[in-house]
Amino acid sequence: MKESRPAPVITIDGPTASGKGTIANKVADYLEWAVLDSGALYRLTALGVLRSACNADDVAAVAKVARELDVVFRGASILFEGEDVASAIREENIGNLASRIAAHLPVREALLQRQRDFRRPPGLVADGRDMGTVVFPDAPLKIFLVADVAARAERRHKQLKEKGFSVNLTDLLEDMRARDERDRNRENAPLKPAADAITIDSSALSIDQTVKQVLDLWSNKVSQGE
Ligand code: C5P
Repeated sequence: MKESRPAPVITIDGPTASGKGTIANKVADYLEWAVLDSGALYRLTALGVLRSACNADDVAAVAKVARELDVVFRGASILFEGEDVASAIREENIGNLASRIAAHLPVREALLQRQRDFRRPPGLVADGRDMGTVVFPDAPLKIFLVADVAARAERRHKQLKEKGFSVNLTDLLEDMRARDERDRNRENAPLKPAADAITIDSSALSIDQTVKQVLDLWSNKVSQGE
């Protein structure tokens, strides 16, 4: 009997505002695969912590919030306890708190299976920090997406402005540096490329050019028998 293989996953990891989410969505649309925005789960946990007035330093309590998240992803909407918070979780204070609580192993473990449950046929594109290293170590294609910090700060600034948030570019740059530093240097699932990841630097690439690179890499994998 033919052994059934798990659905393929393309992982896209990288620092803050490297364009992972945009690229992941476009690649998933093209392939007609599901998409996992794993950062949203850490952001939702941060939102849950703030709303429940739980102490962000109480790791067990934060892990409980993560384990019990009542969330439904529906297209562009993210329903948290029935309320669409897709836009609210993009605020910088939520991103910063998400990065603080994401450093704790019990919080990461509480979200692990929920992330793996997104994997179903015909395939999944998953973006985050540890998709290729921890969550989907057997993914057939792993991308590590980088861009220089100034390009990333400008992109994030534009994104936030479009969503109606007012932010100062210098503060944003500082926050992003601090967040990346914390994500890179933490003990649990630090931000780093998997040994078999392919790095793409998107500083000088358009969104479409970056998407094309990922799709070309995937076509190569498929033609090699993946
Ligand atoms: O990707 P995004 O900026 O939405 O993620 C918010 C924070 O969640 C990151 O700074 C990171 O600390 C954490 N995160 C993580 N592992 C992931 C995705 C996000 O630790 N797979």
